[in-house]
Order: sequence, then structure tokens, then C-alpha cells
Amino acid sequence: MADIAAELGKRRTFAIISHPDAGKTTLTEKLLLFGGAIQLAGTVKGRKAARHATSDWMEMEKERGISVTSSVMQFPYRERIVNLLDTPGHEDFSEDTYRTLTAVDSALMVIDVAKGVEARTIKLMEVCRMRDTPILTFVNKLDREGRDPIEILDEIESVLGIACSPVTWPIGMGKRLKGVIDLRTETTHLFSASHGDHVLEGETIHGLDSPALQEALGEHEVEKLKEEIELVRGASHELDLDAYLRGEQTPVFFGSAINNFGVRELLDAFVEYAPPPQPRSTLQRMVDPAESKFTGFVFKIQANMDPAHRDRIAFLRVCSGSYRKGMKMKHVRINKTVQVSNAITFQADARRQVEEAFPGDIIGLHNHGTIQIGDTFSEGEDLKYEGVPYFAPELFRRVVLKDPLKMKALQKGVLQLCEEGATQVFRPLRNNDLILGAVGVLQFEVAAARLKSEYGVEAVVEPINVYTARWVQCDDEAVLKRFKIKAHDNLALDGDDQLVYLAPTRVNLNLTEERWPEVKFLATREL
Ligand code: G4P
Repeated sequence: MADIAAELGKRRTFAIISHPDAGKTTLTEKLLLFGGAIQLAGTVKGRKAARHATSDWMEMEKERGISVTSSVMQFPYRERIVNLLDTPGHEDFSEDTYRTLTAVDSALMVIDVAKGVEARTIKLMEVCRMRDTPILTFVNKLDREGRDPIEILDEIESVLGIACSPVTWPIGMGKRLKGVIDLRTETTHLFSASHGDHVLEGETIHGLDSPALQEALGEHEVEKLKEEIELVRGASHELDLDAYLRGEQTPVFFGSAINNFGVRELLDAFVEYAPPPQPRSTLQRMVDPAESKFTGFVFKIQANMDPAHRDRIAFLRVCSGSYRKGMKMKHVRINKTVQVSNAITFQADARRQVEEAFPGDIIGLHNHGTIQIGDTFSEGEDLKYEGVPYFAPELFRRVVLKDPLKMKALQKGVLQLCEEGATQVFRPLRNNDLILGAVGVLQFEVAAARLKSEYGVEAVVEPINVYTARWVQCDDEAVLKRFKIKAHDNLALDGDDQLVYLAPTRVNLNLTEERWPEVKFLATREL
């Protein structure tokens, strides 16, 4: 049997967080390229092409199908095995994006040098904060004119509240981009644009006083660079790996993903600094990844990838022990033991069966409706992993039936879709509406299309005046009772009958919070 401690020690499991168009897809391709998985790079591109596809049902299937293929990308790099989990962006942005972040050990934040910190990045950082996930930062598109790098670092610090420590520093920018210098070793990597799928090592020069550097940049430029580096060192934090591992400091790299530039430094530092799988808490106890018994939890369920099979895949993160093909595992929530001989990972276009998987790895379990997001699997022990929360949706729609007689089927369909976790359902106390909530707009179309194809229900979704949802908690029964009466018209029950406040506006939410200090309005709910 493989040595679990040795195997998990090699694992580095992470996700990329970024605002759309910052360069996540491009960087993913380049990382795969450096990892030697060249054919996979094309897969990522394919998905990007599909992103512009119209959202009729078949197209959506295709789009989702392809995005499943690249949901988990495993590649070896140096002596490590890297698992890159895709975080759906653009139109397919959904709760899955958030939940995926609960299954990683660290994250890589990509920032567009011209745009700085953007809205989606702020949201995703909030989610990382919940588990103090360590973050590396890549400032991208240095081949274009952008903002002053110091200004970008200031913005990351002030907006995201995380200290920055530049590991590399750009020499020039846009047309004047000459290279990046590694501040740890004072090694300069000269810039040469290299589009396409080959890895150029590029020229490197050691030391700031090297004649080669003088020759490459000119004497004047080298003097300027020295001054700038002094300034940067004075103004920024020294690299502190413990602070990085605590989620308090982010090491920052500069480069241009499309030119394969600065990516090698990033990946080298990533496999060196990023943490291997860590102990994780369950409701019962902490579980160490090196424990011999297998445990893991489901963070995402992807449905209907293959129209011919209508199968669903539950993505499980292995947290301890190992998965062996054919092993028996206990599905803790339903207290049932299942034999799993066909867990899968996805490589390029071919689904491949895994024989073994270790902490940090992701396996796909075939799901016929019994597995839910957040479910724990073990080798017998009753454990429940924490930390796969529901997030307050940002978008809301009312489901309207075309045939009113199909109400029962609609309710069943909606509740089942919500169990998968891509959309949430809210049932207002004051009427019989069904309100769907999601964090990405595509989810509504998916829900309507699936209601039709799987439950035979013709429904449309229409806008409704809800700004956000907050789960309501109050320890004082009497206060809660009064609140329920006063706020009745804005209250609803979610899919698990939990009380939720649906605020029509931000102002309304603020006022309500002020008025009811004893009531907690929670933006997330643990499963
Ligand atoms: P995303 O997944 O974060 O949404 O970003 P993606 O990689 O798709 O990149 C968004 C756009 O930015 C793409 O251009 C991509 O080529 C470009 N890009 C990525 N990295 C760099 C870089 O280092 N420098 C420059 N100049 N551009 C970069 P597009 O026009 O939307 O697509 P395409 O036609 O180039 O494929």
C-alpha cells in the first residue's frame, strides 16, 4: 500500500480566483503547459470558445460538459502533484465557484494590472477569508500599459485587507517591459514575448551589478531600477511564509500570462510555498490527512453532463487516508455502505478511472440522486465535515408556472434541483410563490430548462424585487416571535425550512438590522 504521508506531502490543491477577463483561463493553460499537460491546454481553450455560445439547452449541456472536463486538472510539477480546481466564472459563475474554494488548500489570485482589484475578486476573497486560505497573487498583463505596481499593491492591501509582499518586480511595463526581477535572488528574467504553446526559458541575469544587466537595460535604467527596488523594499512587507500560511500576507508576482512570462517563477514558488493538505475539522473532531482511514466530503455536484446518460457526478475531496478502486465507503448522512469501483477523474476528453487517490485529490462519484453537497464519506466512522456553506444569493427570480395544475411537480422539481445546490429556493410566508436565488444568472436558465426536460414542467422565471437574503437567528424566543410578526411580509423559508429575511433593498436590510439588534442576519449558512 502506498505511503499516505508521502503521497499527501506531494499534493498541492488550489483554485484560481479572479474577476472575469483578468486572465484565469490563459494562466490555467500556461500552468498546464509548464506541467507538461499540453493537450489539456487546448481543452481549456475549447471551454472558452464555448463561453460565448448561446444558452439554448444543448449548448448549455455542451458548455457544462466541457467545463466538467476541466473541473479538476491534475498535473505533476517537479516533485509535486498539483490539483487545480476550476472555479466557474463568467456566465457559469455559481455557488459551485464559492464551494470549490472550501475544497482547496490555497488559492491563486489573478489581478489585471490595468484594472486592479475588481468586484468578483472581492467576493471570492471573502470566501477565502472564512477559512484563512493562503493566497498567492499574480498581477497579469504587464505587456500592456497598466497602473503603477505600487498602487496595485496598495489597493490589494486596503481593499482586500491582506498584506502584500512582492516576490518579483516588473522592469517597465507595456511596450517598455524589459523583464521581471526576483527580489529574493536579484535575478532578472528578460522579457521576450512568446505566445503559443512552447515554453521559452528566456535569458536570466544574476545580480544588479552584472555587466550583462547594464548591457541589457542601459546604465541609467539599472540605476533607476536599483532606486525603485530600494523604495519597494522599504514600502512593502518582507516575505513571511508563516503569515502567508495564516492567510495574512500574500506573496505577489508580476508577469504576462499570454506571453508565458513570469509564470515559471509563480509556479516554482507555488509548489515551494503552498501548503499540502491540512487537518480539517468535522463536527466530531479534527481529522489529520495522514490518518490511515479514508474520509472526504462532497463540495459540488454536476448534473446532466452527458445527455445520453443523464448521470450526475459528485465531486469529493479526499481529506484523509486513501481511495482504492473497489473499496467500501460509508455514506454517513444516509448511513449506508457503498462499494465504489468506478470513481473518476477527468483528463482531457477521456474520463479515466482512478485506481488510487490521496488527500488533496478529487474523485468523481457517480450519483443517482442520493448524494448531496456537503455529504461526508468515511470508512465507517460517523463524521461530518464542516465548511461547505450556503451563501446568500445575489440574484432572485420568481418561478411562474405555465400550467397551474403542475404545482406539485414544480415543487418537487425545484426542491430536488436545490438539493444539488446550484440554486436555492425560498418560500415566502405571505404567499405561495417559489423564489429562486442564485449567485450566477445562468443558474436560472439551467433550472428552467431542467424543470422542463426532467420534470415535464413548463415554467418561466421572472424578476422579483429582492436585493438579498439573510438567514435569521435569534436566541431570544420572545424577540424572534415579535420579529416574525413585524417582518412577516419579508420572511421566507428556505429548502430546509430555515427562516430567511428577504430584503427588498440594501437600505431596508441596514434599517432592519439596526432595528433588531438581538437578531442575527447571516449571509452564509453552514450545511
Ligand atoms: P478569464 O479566464 O479570467 O476570463 O480571462 P482570459 O484568460 O480569458 O483572458 C481574458 C483576455 O485577456 C483574453 O483576451 C486574453 O487573451 C487576454 N490576456 C490574458 N493574459 C494576458 C496578458 O498577459 N497580456 C495581454 N495583453 N492579454 C492577456 P480576449 O481578447 O478576450 O480573448 P482572445 O481573443 O485573446 O482569446
